[in-house]
Amino acid sequence: MMNNTARAHTNIALIKYWGKKDADLRLPLMSSISMTLDAFYTDTNLVLDTEDKRFYLNGELVTGKASERVISYVERLQKLFHVSGNFHVISQNHVPTSAGLASSSSAFAALAASFVKAYQLDISKKGLSILARLGSGSATRSIFGGFAIWHQGQNSATSFGEAIDETPEMDLRMIAVELNTKQKKISSTQGMEMAKTSPFFIPWIHENEAQIIDMKAAIENNDFTSLGELAEQNASQMHAVNLACETPFTYFEPETVALIHLVQDLRKQGLECYYTIDAGPNVKILTELRNSKEIQKAVKQLLPTVKIVESGFGPGIQYLNEQI
Ligand code: ADP
Ligand code: DP6
Ligand code: CO
Repeated sequence: MMNNTARAHTNIALIKYWGKKDADLRLPLMSSISMTLDAFYTDTNLVLDTEDKRFYLNGELVTGKASERVISYVERLQKLFHVSGNFHVISQNHVPTSAGLASSSSAFAALAASFVKAYQLDISKKGLSILARLGSGSATRSIFGGFAIWHQGQNSATSFGEAIDETPEMDLRMIAVELNTKQKKISSTQGMEMAKTSPFFIPWIHENEAQIIDMKAAIENNDFTSLGELAEQNASQMHAVNLACETPFTYFEPETVALIHLVQDLRKQGLECYYTIDAGPNVKILTELRNSKEIQKAVKQLLPTVKIVESGFGPGIQYLNEQI
């Protein structure tokens, strides 16, 4: 079996992508900024010249919608590069799948990278980020480590990811609290389409430009307080958009709200931390290294059975033993 295995780490947006101007090309209505995580990643091997087209995830054959999305994505890349043939996508997630912990970001970054390796295509990282975007928007940013930005652009060629700082000085930690890792009922793709029916959707988009500028400045100035405040505001606004939709919905569960309160209480006690939440119930707490252990202790006290995973900055796209 050919080894074209690529490893991509997941990224969590600090300024989020939530809304598309072109669903087919996955062009977003806003730019976004993320932190790539070291603790969560996907390994994917695209094997060519097989007898059929299959998708295996974590050792099991996947069928139905999830498989169709992956297979039609590879077929789309094949068309783009004028190649064809059967293939197996063999992938391992070291991240909960479809639970709001950004599995699609590492998944499609790893798959795009494995594709270009399998076909020996000479593609820049920028080009690779564009290919990853066609699979899942957030995957655009997982080509890069540290802090990354996805420039929204106006067309496919101008909507790509870029590293802001792949080895940041900030001792930023992200504590992922896994409350519920079951597959969410409303996928990110569906959720962000529903968001368009919210009266807060236009204001949400309008906020983005200033938030991107401010977040870039916070990163540049090594300013954890501004970064945390901005990330928390941005996430809260995204979830407020969802609650105000024609058919209101939320990814929050009771424990999500309990953790929001905990973060606010800890802050009052002088333990500086902030939350961000994606399309799922699981909460990520942003903190500096010096407070990380104490914050995790407080989470354990509140919710003794949940799994807590601490992350620092992760690297950009890798092949098994070599960097590209
Ligand atoms: P998440 O919050 O985990 O990013 P999404 O709703 O964005 O959830 O999407 C998850 C999508 O990514 C699903 O279609 C799922 O099948 C797909 N996916 C997850 N992991 C992999 C993988 N390793 N390889 C291919 N597709 C994957
Ligand atoms: C809330 O990238 O998963 O995590 O492009 O439809 O696959 P598709 O959506 P996806 O959406 C991510 C939404 C988010 C915010 C973010 O990662 O920027
Ligand atoms: Co996703």
